[in-house]
Amino acid sequence: HKGKFKHYTAKEIYEQPVSIKNTILNRFIKNETVYFSELDVKAEKIFSQTEHIQIIACGTSYHAGLVSKYWFESLAMIACDVEVASEFCYKKILVRKNSLLLIISQSGETADNLNALKISKNLGYLGSLTICNSKSSSLVYESDFSLFTCAGIEIGVASTKAFTTQLTVLLMLVAKFIHLKSKNFKLEKKIINLLNILPNRIEEILKHKKSVYSLAKKIFDKKNIIFLGKGEQYPIAMEGALKIKEISYIHAEGYPIGELKHGPLALIDSNVPIIIIAPNNNLLEKIKLNIEEIHSRGGLIYILSDPFAKFNKNRNIIRLPYIEHLISPIFYAIPLQLLAYYTALIKGENIDQPRNLAKSVTVE
Ligand code: F6R
Repeated sequence: HKGKFKHYTAKEIYEQPVSIKNTILNRFIKNETVYFSELDVKAEKIFSQTEHIQIIACGTSYHAGLVSKYWFESLAMIACDVEVASEFCYKKILVRKNSLLLIISQSGETADNLNALKISKNLGYLGSLTICNSKSSSLVYESDFSLFTCAGIEIGVASTKAFTTQLTVLLMLVAKFIHLKSKNFKLEKKIINLLNILPNRIEEILKHKKSVYSLAKKIFDKKNIIFLGKGEQYPIAMEGALKIKEISYIHAEGYPIGELKHGPLALIDSNVPIIIIAPNNNLLEKIKLNIEEIHSRGGLIYILSDPFAKFNKNRNIIRLPYIEHLISPIFYAIPLQLLAYYTALIKGENIDQPRNLAKSVTVE
């Protein structure tokens, strides 16, 4: 039921503090150790041996995988590769030493993922692990181990709460690997603390809907939009672009901000909004240089940032609440979901059921 909301998509965006709470519920022992009741000793043994993670997913779930690559590599020191399932299946698969196959899927019924899992059997992976929102799905049935996101049923075709709960499970999984491999228990505890405060942080950002709505009013009649990020925020920029394409029908690209000068700068004029995710972190100084490059070419810049980052005068800055770096990709996904929602709302589009799309893609 939609309750007070006009669309399931809006309801599901606003449900995120609760869906994240449900996803972390009963998964921390004394707020020190991550615990997954779904996993047995055999799974833990495999995790202890794992030196490489091969992630397979599609669409929004693929973007969750891309964010987690930064986390697996920088926090758990485990090499990680991420591929879209439809490509993974149709090329030579070289299995790295002690590699774990990790499939991320909201529905667990995506044909491309099932196909990838099938052809990976007997290739030498240590095992297959699925992160899924549907406990009774084919992917869960076919893979060795599964971890569940507890987003509840997602009805809007555009994935929102499934995405942020996938990221939540992925960050818990990273903590699990830290526990088993590098044994940096302080870092594991820090991740747990941050996941515990995340639902409140998301409540906070949802209160900023007015400034996101004002941005939607500025972009709804545009033909093209570019989303930019750096580091963990680059996949979030891709996700922002996907949401806008899907429900607002505006062509959008998500790009790494440093890559702009290698081509896309040619697109920049005062008709192409450039939406930049730029919180105050160690990448900000580099991002600022890139922002000036865009500005000097007449770009229409909108910056999503926090109360602390300093920018040149006269930049359009949407000041969002402060967020701790580790959980910032989950946080910045929210205003971009809202932006796509409001843009589609202003345009009068069919938000819950975008044209040509199905909730679960069961054909190749
Ligand atoms: C985007 C979206 C799709 C799905 C993709 C994978 O909002 O919903 O891109 O993320 O079709 O679906 P699952 O996660 O069910 O495998």
